[in-house]
Formats: sequence, structure tokens, C-alpha cells
Amino acid sequence: MTMPTRSLGTTGPQVSALGLGCMGMSSAVYGDADRTEAIATVHAALEAGVTLLDTGDFYAMGHNETLVGEALRTAPAARREQARVSVKFGALRDPDGGWGGNDGRPAAVRNFAAYSLQRLGVDHIDVYRIARVDPDVPIEETVGAIAELVEKGHVRHIGLSEASADNIRRAAATAPIVDVQLEYAIVTRDIERKILPTTRELGIGVTAYGVLSRGLISGHLTHDSRFAADDYRSVSPRFQGENLHHNLDLVEALRKIADGKGVTVAQIATAWVLSRGEDIVPLVGARTRERLAESLGALDVVLDAADLAAIEEAVPADAAAGTRYPAQQMAHLGTEQ
Ligand SMILES: NC(=O)c1ccc[n+]([C@@H]2O[C@H](COP(=O)([O-])OP(=O)(O)OC[C@H]3O[C@@H](n4cnc5c(N)ncnc54)[C@H](OP(=O)(O)O)[C@@H]3O)[C@@H](O)[C@H]2O)c1
Repeated sequence: MTMPTRSLGTTGPQVSALGLGCMGMSSAVYGDADRTEAIATVHAALEAGVTLLDTGDFYAMGHNETLVGEALRTAPAARREQARVSVKFGALRDPDGGWGGNDGRPAAVRNFAAYSLQRLGVDHIDVYRIARVDPDVPIEETVGAIAELVEKGHVRHIGLSEASADNIRRAAATAPIVDVQLEYAIVTRDIERKILPTTRELGIGVTAYGVLSRGLISGHLTHDSRFAADDYRSVSPRFQGENLHHNLDLVEALRKIADGKGVTVAQIATAWVLSRGEDIVPLVGARTRERLAESLGALDVVLDAADLAAIEEAVPADAAAGTRYPAQQMAHLGTEQ
């Protein structure tokens, strides 16, 4: 299979149409991860032509960057050179894994970048972005600090994550922005109201995360699924009690469509995001080669008008029960809901 490519905005690099999100490969965010299998998954992705790898310095406090760095070091040189690494920074952690807000001050940006370059073992970061806009620091200052890193060659491109339409405009007026990382899925369409029209007007791409809504619409969960206390889903509103039951009923409606096409629910969900525009690059959260192979299969799924109408009927916008983050984290999102 030849990997299709998409451009990150009008000023960004050409990358594989599906990127690999590496977050779940560290820590227990979606249950225990296996480091050896995770690295094999990154290698398999690179071998399949995936060129975009997404990580964050706060994913298990640097563990994820170290893992991605090891995977890059041990990959064939030709594959390593094709890889484009997208890094999020800004979220503050404590030794117990707690969260302490976001820091977008220019001195902090330089500090975060210095450590990320070391942990990743690279001489530049391809796309660098603050994970959540720091409400105490004007976005111009944070983006301006990344622009200085671009001038010095430490960073190639600037991205954003969960930013409001206003902050996207202000950032784009400061320096070229290639993409905004946003949650986008059949069951998570908030960005269609205000954010997507803004990114499209400004020629900025979208890297979509949570395309399976954290596994909710992967087709692999059941009404009996239980999550460990340190699994994000143990506190995520969409995975609680009645909400989970309601949402899994939506998945069964999607499964009928998937079965009719001879594909899986995860492939339908990923293909739907791919179908929303050439400016969108879904990040798949595969942690194993098996899940990766399933996700890559989405590239072969063609959704025609009848399929899209059937999906719309099965899972209309806003059909999911429960917000996409717990209330406290919703309050820190910059994006309009
Ligand atoms: N900017 C932001 O605020 C932000 C926030 C969250 C994530 N991200 C980035 O986006 C990436 C993807 O997000 P996500 O991991 O939440 O997305 P996701 O793809 O919606 O969820 C991944 C979950 O789905 C399960 N899954 C089941 N079938 C799968 C399949 N075929 N392929 C992949 N996963 C499958 C995985 O667990 P099993 O392996 O156990 O099945 C995992 O629990 C992250 O790795 C991270 O890089 C960014």
C-alpha cells in the first residue's frame, strides 16, 4: 500500500494521512502499556509509511518522549529521516503524576524545548505546540518564543492545541501556524461550529485526536468493560454508568454499517474523520501492532454519500452522552464547545 499524504496547513510539511499518537504507549492512561510492543508499533508504523508521530513532554513526565526517541534511534535510518515529530509542552506535573496548570511563558517554552530535544535525541522538533493556552500569558508571547526557536533551527513549525478561534487568529497573526490539534470524532463534533471554519479560513490544518473517543467507539469495548483507577476512562464522563450504556448502543448502530461494508467499527470511525476534509490528519492512538494494522485499514475504506448518511442517521451530532473531559478539565479547554 502506498501511504497517502496530506499537508499540515498551507505552510506545513506533507505528512502521512494518518499520524501515530504515542500517548497511550506510556503510563496507564488507557491501561498498562508494553514498552517493547510500543516500540515495535512505532517501527511498524514507520515501515507502513506513517511519518507523523505525536507526543507530549508531560506524557508520563518525559517517559513518552524517551520511548519515541528510542524508537527513532533503533529504526532504519531512511525511516527515521522521514519521521516528523510533533511535541506538546506546557502542562505542569508533580512527582505523583498530579497536574499543576500550564506554563506558556517564553522562558518556560525555551526550557521545555531544551529538555524535549535531549529526551527525543533529535536536533530539532518538527512541530511544537503548547497543549493548552496559558490563560496568564498572551498567546503572542508563547508563539513568539516558539518562533524564536524556529529562527534558531531548534523547531521547524508551530502548532496549537485546543485553542479558541480568537487565540488561533492571534497566533496566526504572530507567526505561521501549521495545524491545531483538536478532538474530533463521529461523537465529538464541537469544532465544526467555530474552530474548523476559522482554521480553514486561515489555511491551518487540523491533527485530530480521540477519533475513537478514547476507545469508546473502537468497537472493542463492551457493557462489561471496567477501567482501573489510574485509567483516564475511570473518570471520563462518557465511560460512566448510563452514559457508557447509551454510547455503546451508538457503537452497535455503527457496527451494523461496518459489518455491511466488511470493515470494523474503528475503521469506520477513522475513515469518517478522514472523509471530513483533506486538511485533517487523524492521529490514531494504536499501542500495539494489531491495533495499528486495524487503524491503517481505514485508509482503504471509501465512504460514499449513502454511507455518510447512514452514519449520520446512526450517530447524529451531539448523540453521545457525557462531556469529552471531566468538568475540571473542560474548564481548561480554550476551544469553544
Ligand atoms: N492535544 C490534545 O489535547 C490531545 C489529547 C489526547 C490525545 N492527543 C494525542 O492524540 C493521540 C490519539 O489520541 P487517543 O489515544 O486519545 O485516541 P483514540 O484513538 O481515540 O483512543 C485510543 C484508544 O482506543 C483504543 N483502540 C481500540 N482499537 C483501536 C485501534 N484500532 N486503533 C487505535 N486505538 C484503538 C486504544 O486502546 P487499546 O490499545 O487498549 O485498544 C486506546 O485506548 C494520542 O496518542 C496523543 O498523541 C492529544
